[in-house]
Amino acid sequence: MPHTDCPDVTVQTQPFGFEKILVDNRFADCEIYTHGAHITSFRVKGQQELIWLSPNALFLPDKAIRGGIPICWPWFGAHPADSDKPAHGFARLSTWQFKSAQVQEDGSTEIVLTLSESQQSLALWPYKFALEYRIVVGEVLSLSLTVTNTGESAFEVSGALHTYFNVGDIADVRLQGFDGVDYFDKVDGNVQKQQSGDIVIGQEVDRVYLNPEDNCQLLDKRLNRTIAIGKSGSNSTIVWNPWQEKSQSMKDMSDEGYRQMLCVEAGLSPGVMVAPGQRHCLGQCLKECLKAN
Ligand code: BG6
Repeated sequence: MPHTDCPDVTVQTQPFGFEKILVDNRFADCEIYTHGAHITSFRVKGQQELIWLSPNALFLPDKAIRGGIPICWPWFGAHPADSDKPAHGFARLSTWQFKSAQVQEDGSTEIVLTLSESQQSLALWPYKFALEYRIVVGEVLSLSLTVTNTGESAFEVSGALHTYFNVGDIADVRLQGFDGVDYFDKVDGNVQKQQSGDIVIGQEVDRVYLNPEDNCQLLDKRLNRTIAIGKSGSNSTIVWNPWQEKSQSMKDMSDEGYRQMLCVEAGLSPGVMVAPGQRHCLGQCLKECLKAN
């Protein structure tokens, strides 16, 4: 088993050969699957779970895990030219390499996972790349996904760190930091609109906010907490809640699951060009601050 020499890290083998990396340090606990480099849990000691995982999530090689933090890459949403290709790209369906685990000077734990081109990826997306996902588990969960173009031609990448936040009740949640920001409304024919005030969710919401500030706050009255959400290298924030009807139609979502989650995603949509030898880094950081208001 790799990297179990790091004292705060253990690795469990799961059905289908999935590997689950468990981090337990003095700040927090975190669970990461090598399938999709998918984080399924992050909990600061003495606080409540920050990440929502569907009770009906499927852990299968050809499926993305419902909930947690899927990595959408190298495209966001449907493939622009071929709807037969997997939605949100192939990174969340791929088995990543668990490269390293290290205790940092401040006691936090750094986990690094990597992914590069394979026969399967080249069939879906004809480019050479090196992806490095750096996860730092401390009082803050810090994520950075860096792609290097290792091929000879430039490529365009879009994507998202598609974080599902655990909320007490969606009716008691407000998202601050988007007042006056333009967005594409995916549940209203992609019409461009402008946000007025806080985001509150009372129906299906699927929006791409364009160039918002990098910091926003999720206020949760029921859990009596605020989550501070930051991002970098990102030109959009996607806010998604499928609401009741869609939840009921999704096999891996529980019927009432939509009440306990809200996706606030660090997006790269529209995409960016990455020239040969160049990199792009997309980041998100999450931190619970006690007391909602
Ligand atoms: C969001 C998209 O990012 O992800 C939604 O904006 C989509 O349109 C949602 O429905 C979930 O996608 P998936 O592929 O995980 O069901």
